[in-house]
Amino acid sequence: MTRPAPKSFHVKSFGCQMNVYDGERMAELLGAQGMAAASEADAELVILNTCHIREKAAEKVYSDIGRQRREDGTRPMIAVAGCVAQAEGTEVTARTKDVDIVVGPQAYHELPQMIARAAKGERVHDLDLPGLDKFSKLPARRKTGPTAFLTVQEGCDKFCTYCVVPYTRGGEISRSYAAIVDEAKSLVDAGAKEITLLGQNVNAWEEDGKGLEHLIRALDAISGLQRIRYTTSHPNDMTDGLIRAHADVEKLMPFLHLPVQSGNDRVLKAMNRKHTADSYLKIIDRVRAARPDIALSGDFIVGFPGETEAEFEDTLRLIEAANYAMAFSFKYSPRPGTPAATMDAQIAPEVMDDRLQRLQGLLNTQQLAFNQASLGKRIQVLLERKGKLDGQKIGKSPWLQSVHIIADAQIGDMVEVDLVSAGPNSLAGTLVSKDVNAA
Ligand code: SAH
Ligand code: SF4
Ligand code: F3S
Repeated sequence: MTRPAPKSFHVKSFGCQMNVYDGERMAELLGAQGMAAASEADAELVILNTCHIREKAAEKVYSDIGRQRREDGTRPMIAVAGCVAQAEGTEVTARTKDVDIVVGPQAYHELPQMIARAAKGERVHDLDLPGLDKFSKLPARRKTGPTAFLTVQEGCDKFCTYCVVPYTRGGEISRSYAAIVDEAKSLVDAGAKEITLLGQNVNAWEEDGKGLEHLIRALDAISGLQRIRYTTSHPNDMTDGLIRAHADVEKLMPFLHLPVQSGNDRVLKAMNRKHTADSYLKIIDRVRAARPDIALSGDFIVGFPGETEAEFEDTLRLIEAANYAMAFSFKYSPRPGTPAATMDAQIAPEVMDDRLQRLQGLLNTQQLAFNQASLGKRIQVLLERKGKLDGQKIGKSPWLQSVHIIADAQIGDMVEVDLVSAGPNSLAGTLVSKDVNAA
């Protein structure tokens, strides 16, 4: 079907922060072409920026595509982007007539040309994984706001046996130091006070033998930038240099997301994690020696094929030993094409449910205890958004806790707050002083 070239777009991103970043860059790219951002219901082009990590990820995308039909029977131009696009490839357009464009996570800089071809009635695919090509071809950052994501590293070489990411994102590759520092400066010029460096394995970033701490120190020198974070890290890439940065870079926030997945060495080996429970705990000890107040976060999978009750209990023991401030936990999901999907002894759903509940019970107790231990502290909070109540603002503590205040202060202010109450998912504070770091 030919149609007029779309003048408006809507990007709907699922999955990890890297997908959020990609979604923002797609929006900036289309904005630079003169297209206007619109709601999902009104946009002439809808981009579904998909994630493939969970159960039935592809099915959900197909039902989302179906929901794009509008009351008058028409539909917008539809592009499927992200990791389902990469994993399913031309399957997507074979299975439904309602998709015009399939574009992988490394190829979306080609969107303007693809949209033009789709308007002529062509069904267009671009699933190349050309590494870092897109970054040099995208327009400069336009995003404004107090917090920003910045992708510094793409892809993964770790091949954990349960995971699709090495297939959907390709191998590990680092953007150049110069390009990253440039992008960071333009984000700060546009008002960012906090930058989160992103990568599937962000601490595998390197250039000429220099690691992520080199980048962190470069960002530390940008005046106007007040907070630096990074995610997600792999235990095996947690170098001494990066740990040292936690001791002496003041802008580096006391937070570390370091997934472990399991606390049992047999399971870790079957997952191809290449670390043990003990080596993980030793890394945590070193990080805490460098930065005693660090908030630790992690990811866990319960019910990996063959996981016994005793092996699962090792994970509970590791959680007790590590003590998390927050965590993400998942039931194992067989991902098509991964080695674990065809392993023997897949675990029954009700066993997984039971283990997940027990694991989350323990993690929730730790999270509440961590939040309660913050009570009485006077801290800085970067206000990110309005809350539901009149005058309410929500921001983040240095430890990435959500903090609510009701005060006459602006989004983007770094305020000083006394923490007065703590729940499992957030804290409340009272304002002590407005915009403490105002220049
Ligand atoms: N590169 C990051 C993020 C990977 S995806 C890392 O290594 O931590 C985020 C999380 O999803 C993983 O840490 C893992 O806990 C979970 N995950 C990935 N594949 C999964 C699967 N097949 N089943 C269940 N959880 C999975
Ligand atoms: Fe997936 Fe493992 Fe790579 Fe993380 S380290 S993205 S879990 S393969
Ligand atoms: Fe999902 Fe792809 Fe991120 S599978 S978690 S969107 S890398």
